[in-house]
Amino acid sequence: MAEILAIYPGSFDPLTNAHLDLIERGSRLFDRLIVAVLTNLEKHPLFTVAERVEMLREATRGIPHVAVDTFGGLLVDYAKQKNAQAILRGIRAFSDYEYELQMALMNRKLEPSLETVFLMPAESYTYVSSRLVKEIHQNGGSVKGLVPPQVEERLRQKVFLK
Ligand code: PNS
Repeated sequence: MAEILAIYPGSFDPLTNAHLDLIERGSRLFDRLIVAVLTNLEKHPLFTVAERVEMLREATRGIPHVAVDTFGGLLVDYAKQKNAQAILRGIRAFSDYEYELQMALMNRKLEPSLETVFLMPAESYTYVSSRLVKEIHQNGGSVKGLVPPQVEERLRQKVFLK
C-alpha cells in the first residue's frame, strides 16, 4: 500500500500542547506528517513565521516522521504539490465543529481526492487555544503546562522586548 502523507495546517501562533498532542497522534497514524504554517495570516500574529517554525521544529524534534514547513495560498494547492492524501485537523469541542466542517467541505469541493481527518486532542487540552494562551500571558498569567517549555520561554522574551 502507498504511503499516506498528511498535512497538519494552521497558524500555530504560538504552538500549544493541544497542537503537540495532535501532532503526536498524527505521527502514529500516518506514514508522514507535515506541519504546515500558514504564511499569509490576515490577523496580526505575535510571532513571525520564522519564529513559529523554529518553535515547531524544536518541539517536534523527537517525533518520528514529522516535518515542519510553511505554505501560502490555498491549502489544497499546497497539499497537491506535496502529493498529500489527507489534511489533519483537531476538534477540541463542539464549538470547533462548525468552522472545521465548513473548511473540510470547502476543501473537498476544491479537491475531492483530499480527505480531512479529524482527531481529538487529550481531554485535558480541550480548553487550550493559542488565542487564550496569548491573552493569559500578555496579562501576566502563567501558561505553564499549556505550551511546550520552549514556547513559554519565547513568550517571556517577547514581553521582555516590548
Ligand atoms: O490554526 P488555524 O488558524 O485555525 O488554521 C486555519 C488554516 C490555516 C487551516 C486555514 O485558514 C487555511 O487552510 N488557510 C489557507 C487558505 C485556504 O486554503 N483557504 C480555504 C480554506 S476552506
